[in-house]
Amino acid sequence: MALRCDLIIRDATLFDGTGGPRMVGDVGVTGERIVAVGDLGGASADREVIATGRALAPGFIDAHTHDDRAVLCGPACLHCKSSQGVTTVVVGNCGVSLAPLRITGDRPPPPLDLVGDSGLAFDSFGEYAQALKKTPAAVNTYALVGHQTLRYRVMGEDLYRPARDVEIARMRQMVAEALAEGASGFSTGLWYKPNMHATTEEVIAVAEPLRAAGGMYFTHMRDEADRVCASIEETLKIGKRVGVPVWISHHKCSMPENYGRSVQTLALLEASASLQEVAYDMYPYPAGSTVLMPDRLREDVRVIITWSVPHPEFAGRDLAEVARNWNMDQRAAAEKLSPAGAITFQMDEEDVRRIMAHPMSVIGSDGIPHDAHPHPRLWGTFPRVLGFYSRQLGLLDMETAIHKMTGRTASLFGMVDRGVLKPGAYADLVLFDPHRIIDRATFEDPKQESEGIEEVWANGVPTFRAGTGLTGETPGRLIRRHRAA
Ligand code: ZN
Ligand code: CU
Repeated sequence: MALRCDLIIRDATLFDGTGGPRMVGDVGVTGERIVAVGDLGGASADREVIATGRALAPGFIDAHTHDDRAVLCGPACLHCKSSQGVTTVVVGNCGVSLAPLRITGDRPPPPLDLVGDSGLAFDSFGEYAQALKKTPAAVNTYALVGHQTLRYRVMGEDLYRPARDVEIARMRQMVAEALAEGASGFSTGLWYKPNMHATTEEVIAVAEPLRAAGGMYFTHMRDEADRVCASIEETLKIGKRVGVPVWISHHKCSMPENYGRSVQTLALLEASASLQEVAYDMYPYPAGSTVLMPDRLREDVRVIITWSVPHPEFAGRDLAEVARNWNMDQRAAAEKLSPAGAITFQMDEEDVRRIMAHPMSVIGSDGIPHDAHPHPRLWGTFPRVLGFYSRQLGLLDMETAIHKMTGRTASLFGMVDRGVLKPGAYADLVLFDPHRIIDRATFEDPKQESEGIEEVWANGVPTFRAGTGLTGETPGRLIRRHRAA
């Protein structure tokens, strides 16, 4: 009997997510899954899409996000992601998660305010998981529980010291609870002021439940500048002592005196990968973005303001220019703008390329969705890797670039039946024009849809279409490491 599907996409150039060579073929979808891949000439479907000359790939997995709140505020909040082909986001990074959070003052200490300044907080991870079920997102969510969230919950505003034993025990218990209720890992942001006081031993002790639960450790390392290699060593040590895979977030070599050091860091990571499980994500830009920190500014590094509570009118402006207008130095101007966010041009383009091209990397945007004038990575990361770095520069072939956004990512994170085009996998799909795909978001004008994305499906349901935009559908669900949904 002839196969009948809900949807067949015909004659597309298939990139199957494994990194293997592209081939022309058809993909059949029924319900939330792919049912057939190959020549489906004898099959029919309710809807057929003729995709001659276009590429079909697994939906992109954004390995590093701060979308904790964005996944709960309706499809429009993630227009930036659906419009670039993203179907899954990893939330709870850099030590910052919405659960189990209890906000005591007006604003939690930065960078926790990046996700939790709206009074939106969840007493337990289970409540967060419930909320995602009640108001699902257009994308799938894979969630981590954040160390700063736990420290703030247990230590209140008294964060600028190592945690005491009873506090460590309490945090450890909360990690175990979050993992039982649907979290897949634990993240730290040891570079940030409130968290840098945590010792390596504190992190090891709090992370301990990861081992029994099969979770993973993620970190925005203590230092990505002068002490980047020592920070990698610390991360590896934590992984070894806890007995779990480790993940280095947004790998970079920060500040001009460290430009070129990715030669060393990648050699170190490569050598350790033969001894323990280690991986990293990166974003395709030579500038970072986070909260504005007046005492960490340098005159030789350009800064753009992304938001400011007292002076929202300066979002998008250079800090140096604001300081000149105010007749003060940059640090004083930054104090006056705070609380605020910033884009910092702290990387070398050659390091960015070396880190991206390395076989261990995967792509994550690190986009910050609620900024007034966000870093362009929020809207442009995936099309930029495919259009600029792969097609235009030839830094990596498109098969490899897509593998770093799909199959490699899914297998490292333990996302079951995702990231590949094969029968039985979830129908997370992106159809795009490989000759046209490119980012349009810039540092000057960051909220721009990319070009060349034609249609996006999550769990078999269309979430974005070129021309008409978001479909408004919300087929996303919480996915868990090594568990079938
Ligand atoms: Zn970070
Ligand atoms: Cu981050």
